Amino acid sequence: MKSGRLPVSLETVGRRCDGTVFSVLVQVDRILLPDGPADVVFYTDNADIKRKVKQTAEGLESGLGKIQRLLLDIASALGTALDIRDPYTAEHQKKVVRLARVIAEEMGLPKERIESIEIAGNLHDIGKIKVPIEILSKSGQLSDLEFEIIKTHCQVGYDIIKSIDFPWPVGEIILQHHERIDGSGYPRGLKRENILIEAQILAVADVVEAMSSHRPYRPSLGINAALEEIEKNRGILYEPEVVDVCLRLFREDRFSFN
Ligand SMILES: [Fe+2]
Ligand SMILES: [Fe+2]
Repeated sequence: MKSGRLPVSLETVGRRCDGTVFSVLVQVDRILLPDGPADVVFYTDNADIKRKVKQTAEGLESGLGKIQRLLLDIASALGTALDIRDPYTAEHQKKVVRLARVIAEEMGLPKERIESIEIAGNLHDIGKIKVPIEILSKSGQLSDLEFEIIKTHCQVGYDIIKSIDFPWPVGEIILQHHERIDGSGYPRGLKRENILIEAQILAVADVVEAMSSHRPYRPSLGINAALEEIEKNRGILYEPEVVDVCLRLFREDRFSFN
């Protein structure tokens, strides 16, 4: 080959002795021999290459799927570990994940974002591990100081998770799950545009589950009171689309915590 850059590859077709046609990949490259450079031409059955590429891609995809499933299982196991110390929170996290996942699916979020909700949801209150059990299980009204201590669980959860290099922003979702779209939430008082949609979904699922369940300091307020709370604060504290989807799921009997 006198001119042009090497290597070159192109697809063409070949014809077998029986007249059938097949796809060929032709590659031309220059190699250095003892008496000078020489151009060599490789012919490869293109279908064979495509088949091998497809097999490799499928293998990688299934391996990646297994690793992602493993991460989800580890997150769920970590969340369950909390059960020994604080069964209320462990049970609460599981229920929040169930609701948040269905809301995210209904909103048409991509698979990776739904998985990030599942992981973050399973761990969102893990920071309560640092809150004294006397406060978590207190049956009466919490003092301001006790409430301030409880509020640290977002940052503590973030600190626990941040060293794990998840392929999703799990730590940030955990840190943001008590933020409210009008900026009245904690710990950073973020506003709507700065709160991840995963955290906004968890926030709604979190409130609905918490209000409709028994707590050491009060009996269940009931699912209707929980739905009224998110409806009343739709667009104020909670993202309107998330609220609408959540209300629809309960009112059309398509979701229940039982
Ligand atoms: Fe929380
Ligand atoms: Fe929670």
